Amino acid sequence: KKVVLAYSGGLDTSVILKWLQDSYQCEVVTFTADIGQGEELEPAREKAGKFGVKEVFIDDLREEFVRDFVFPMFRANTVYEGEYLLGTSIARPLIAKRLIEIANLTGADAISHGATGKGNDQVRFELGAYALKPDIKIIAPWREWDLLSREKLLAYAETHGIPVEMKHKAGGSPYSMDANLLHISYEGRALENPADEPEEDMWRWTVAPEKAPDAAEYVDLEFRHGDIVGINDQAMSAAKVLAELNRLGGKHGIGRQDLVENRYVGMKSRGCYETPGGTIMLKAHRAIESITLDREVAHLKDDLMPRYASLIYNGYWWSPERTMLQTMIDASQASVNGWVRVKLYKGNVIVVGRDSRTDSLFDSTIATFEDDAGAYNQADAGGFIKLNALRLRIAARLRNRSSN
Ligand code: ARG
Ligand code: SIN
Repeated sequence: KKVVLAYSGGLDTSVILKWLQDSYQCEVVTFTADIGQGEELEPAREKAGKFGVKEVFIDDLREEFVRDFVFPMFRANTVYEGEYLLGTSIARPLIAKRLIEIANLTGADAISHGATGKGNDQVRFELGAYALKPDIKIIAPWREWDLLSREKLLAYAETHGIPVEMKHKAGGSPYSMDANLLHISYEGRALENPADEPEEDMWRWTVAPEKAPDAAEYVDLEFRHGDIVGINDQAMSAAKVLAELNRLGGKHGIGRQDLVENRYVGMKSRGCYETPGGTIMLKAHRAIESITLDREVAHLKDDLMPRYASLIYNGYWWSPERTMLQTMIDASQASVNGWVRVKLYKGNVIVVGRDSRTDSLFDSTIATFEDDAGAYNQADAGGFIKLNALRLRIAARLRNRSSN
C-alpha cells in the first residue's frame, strides 16, 4: 500500500499527507514539481520529512512544461470560450504523467491530489492518470473526508501539529490561486460575486495598465515551426522564452483577464487570470501565420481550435483525438518560420511588422494597388463574382416571382 501524493508543501496538501497516513495506513511518496510557480521547493522536502516520508521527489519540469505542453497548445492559437488561455488546464496532464511515472518507479498502487470535488482539476488529473495507467487507484480526499470547511481543516491541522501559518497560499490569501510559467489564476472567496471588480492588489504578475511605462517597447520574436525560439536576436530555450515574455508583458500591464467560464462539471465559475507572456505569444503567432499559412489551412485550424481547446480544458490531453489533432496542427507549422515585431504599450500588444525569408506567401507584386504587370487580370474577377452569385440570383428571382 503506497500512494504518490502531488504535494505543494502548503497547508491543504500537508493535511492530506497526514490524513492519508492516518486513514489509509499507507506509505506516502511525495511529488513536488517546479513548473514556474515561483515558490521555494526545498521546504516541501523538509516538511515531508517531518511526516516520516522516505521517498521525496522534487522535479524541475519547467522546460518540459513549456516545450511539450504550452508550445504545442499555442501552435493551435488555443483559447477556451473566446477568452481563457488555459494556463491551469495545460499543466495538469504533465502532473498526471509525472505522478504515474513516480508510481511506476516506487511501486505505488495509488495516487492522490488536492483538487476539490467541484472543479476541473480533479477531472484532468484523473483522466490523465487512467489514460496512462488503467489500473491505478486514485484517492481524492476532498471527495471523501469531512474537512470541507476552512475551520475544520484548520482544526485538523492544529491537532496534528501541522503549522498553519506556513503558507500564504491556502491559509491567508483571499483567493484560490494556481501559478505556473504560463499564468497565475485567482478564484473563489473575494471573487465569488462576478458583479464586483477585483481589488487592485490581487494582481501579482502585472502592473495596472494605467501605471505601465509611458514609452512603448518594441520586441522582435523569432519563430521556428510555430514556436518562439528567440527574442530580440537572442536564442532562448522554451522556458526562457516564456519567462522573458512574462517579464516584458508584466512590465507593460499585458494579459489581465476577468471572466466567467463554464466548468466541465457543469457550473459557471468566475476567475481572474494573468497571462502576460501567453498573450504576447498568441498575438505574434497569429501574425507569423498570417503570412506563412495557406488561407484554407488557416481557416481549417480555426474551425478545429475550439474543439481542441475544449479537449484540453476538459482534461483529454492524453486522448486519441487530441493526439490526432496535434499531428495535424504540428504538420501545419512546418512553414511557420520568420519574425514578428510587436509594440507593448499599456496593456496592449500591437503587431507592427512580420516577415519570413523562407516561407512568406505574401506576394507584393500581386497584392499591389499599382500596376501588377499581368500577374493578376482584373477582368477575371468579373466571371468569378458572376458564378459565385449564380445561386443568389436564382433565389432572388424565385423570391421576386412568388411575392408578385
Ligand atoms: N478555472 C481554471 C481552470 O479550470 C483555473 C483553475 C485553478 N485551479 C486551482 N486549483 N486553483 O483551468
Ligand atoms: C479545485 O476545485 O480544485 C480548483 C478549481 C478547478 O479545478 O476548477
